Amino acid sequence: MTQRSFPLNAWYVAAWNYEVKKGAMLARTICEKPLVFYRKADGTAVVMDDACWHRLAPLSKGRLAGDNVVCPYHGLVYEPGGRCVHMPSQETINPSAAVRTYPLVERHRYLWIWMGDPALADVDLVPDLHWNDDPEWTGDGTLIELKANYLLGIDNLMDLTHETFVHDGSIGNDAVAEAPFSVTHGERSARVTRWILNQDPPPFWGAQLGVPGPVDRWQIINFLAPSSVALDVGVAVAGTGAPGGNRSQGVNGYIVNSITPATETTSHYFWSANRNFKLGDMSLTTAWRNAVAGIFKQDEDILELQQEAIARNPDKEFYDLNIDAGGMWARRKVSEMIDAETAGLRRVG
Ligand code: FES
Ligand SMILES: [Fe+2]
Repeated sequence: MTQRSFPLNAWYVAAWNYEVKKGAMLARTICEKPLVFYRKADGTAVVMDDACWHRLAPLSKGRLAGDNVVCPYHGLVYEPGGRCVHMPSQETINPSAAVRTYPLVERHRYLWIWMGDPALADVDLVPDLHWNDDPEWTGDGTLIELKANYLLGIDNLMDLTHETFVHDGSIGNDAVAEAPFSVTHGERSARVTRWILNQDPPPFWGAQLGVPGPVDRWQIINFLAPSSVALDVGVAVAGTGAPGGNRSQGVNGYIVNSITPATETTSHYFWSANRNFKLGDMSLTTAWRNAVAGIFKQDEDILELQQEAIARNPDKEFYDLNIDAGGMWARRKVSEMIDAETAGLRRVG
């Protein structure tokens, strides 16, 4: 059996908070598990396996009765904790009749799910993506159903050299591909820092700054294992001290990405584009979201072509270049998490 590419003992973004509503069920596969989400009358979100204990019919095709779920096939009723509380034509309910539920946390406009050992689901381990709801920032985003493994998406974000080739004409120009970068890492994180000094800005950033002339541009890529990447990006008037920390003559964005494995070849790619200037300008929020959506569509296209090519060449390996250093660290952090889980299983079994 080939090893799965994702750890289970981790918080993954399951949904935007607005996607899970009272009185409606949302079916979504995460880490190869079909799940059903809904909200109780008090607003608390619930998730359980989307397969009835009795004959595995998908509960998401059934209906809600108050806070309970009714199976569409023979009418077994489950309470939000996953326990069966009603069976047709029988008084006694089998004590084992239950479906699995999972820890859920609502934070930074997302619902986060823990697919592994619930005893390890520490809420302090939810990745910090506060730009999504910090009052000093504003922005919006969406969800891409990506037909590619989540690590291909992480690779893509960890190396922004591809901007020159995939995003030419918006955020890409030759200066990006030629600028040096440095890579650092922590226990569950990796960071790629790239400064492009005293160059003309690409069209998108030139328009945001609104000041003609050369800029100092930064791309600081923050990977939070296993599947989130916060991109600290911006430009400042050249020579005004941005590399030393003075960004007052610049504009700053945080592009927040979380790519949740659905299967080994598909992912739920959540993203938002946030900025810390002109906070009240809703049309600018829409313009940013549209600009990033256009850019990410280009990424989606190349990632899906890459996934198809991988499927056609199952015996071929990847080769690594200097530009892959950040992605290699990200993959190493993910491997360490998977290895820790497998080692734990070996000890128990
Ligand atoms: S399959 Fe759900 S009640 Fe029979
Ligand atoms: Fe890209």
